[in-house]
Amino acid sequence: MKISNNISLRPYNTFGIAANAAFFTEINSTDDIIEAYRDGTTQLLKKLVLGGGSNVLLTGNFNGLVLRINLKGINIIREDASYVWVKAGAGEKWHELVMWCIERNLAGIENLSLIPGNVGAAPMQNIGAYGVELKDTFDELQAFNTNDFKIEEFANDDCQFGYRESIFKRYLKGQYIITAVTLKLSKHPKFNISYGAIEQELNKMGVEELSIKAISQAVINIRQSKLPDPAVLGNAGSFFKNPEIDAAVFEELKIKFPAMVGYPASAGMMKVAAGWLIEQCGWKGKRVGNTGSHKDQALVLVNYGQATGDEVYTLALEIKKSVAEKFGITIEPEVNVI
Ligand code: EPU
Repeated sequence: MKISNNISLRPYNTFGIAANAAFFTEINSTDDIIEAYRDGTTQLLKKLVLGGGSNVLLTGNFNGLVLRINLKGINIIREDASYVWVKAGAGEKWHELVMWCIERNLAGIENLSLIPGNVGAAPMQNIGAYGVELKDTFDELQAFNTNDFKIEEFANDDCQFGYRESIFKRYLKGQYIITAVTLKLSKHPKFNISYGAIEQELNKMGVEELSIKAISQAVINIRQSKLPDPAVLGNAGSFFKNPEIDAAVFEELKIKFPAMVGYPASAGMMKVAAGWLIEQCGWKGKRVGNTGSHKDQALVLVNYGQATGDEVYTLALEIKKSVAEKFGITIEPEVNVI
């Protein structure tokens, strides 16, 4: 295990925030993790695990050890007449795994094309887009328990997946490091084009015969048309989650704001489009210093180049306050604020 000192984390977070880590190491094997937790010089340091860094906002320097997970490998570990089980290292790029599966005609994650970040982060927040969530194809994961240094397995139910939620974000926060994820993919695709924009895009593309490749391309086109590329403009995707409110409250608000966008969620609840709420408060496309809300998707906060994490967080709090004042709705970050 090679430890470097005082490393800029700018290349390691998609927001492009220039915070420093006091200590930094690349994790290339599970033995490297064990060493980081056992070694006399590093065991007492505070630890921060970074995958693709696509869902964090660093609000200051990190005065501890950053473990950058670089565990690789994509393999078919089992198959039957209907399904193929694919195991991927936590350090693989999520989109590369999606492309790997599409090339082999393995269906189930094509709607999750182009989501930034690594495989290990996908179960943390049960990534989701265009009508599909990770939990729909997730089989199991392996994770390092930082209390007893053992690798454990978690099946789908163990992970307690919810909307942008899992047990690893709640009760087990900070206790486990995900090292590998296994997905159960289908040899016989069930296409999911229920999300309106996909069908429109497929028509625009002139697709006559539906395929997972065509759906993937449609999703890529939609994402590229409204979500900023982190390589060009720093961001971490949706900054806030879409809030769930009581259906009765939603109906009342609808009287005052007839254009309000919402979808039925869990029993008696409605999920409201946070992007719409933020836009109505006048933030869409608005720049504040080095940060702002994106011009095509208000839910995405961006770094115009030199923003500090504090600056972005201050803007997020102002947005949250104005949404609460105008609509009486509390919006919570989806991004992990460090
Ligand atoms: N909307 C606005 N103004 C905006 C943005 C959105 O009025 O500035 C309205 C849209 O018109 C639409 C509705 O809000 O009616 C929903 O917008 P969109 O389809 O863009 O989806 P979203 O709810 O804003 C969620 C996920 C995205 C995911 C898309 C597609 C969350 C927090 N975000 O966004 O995920 O790609 O659906 O499934 O659930 C992410 O998590 O980082 C992410 C990008």
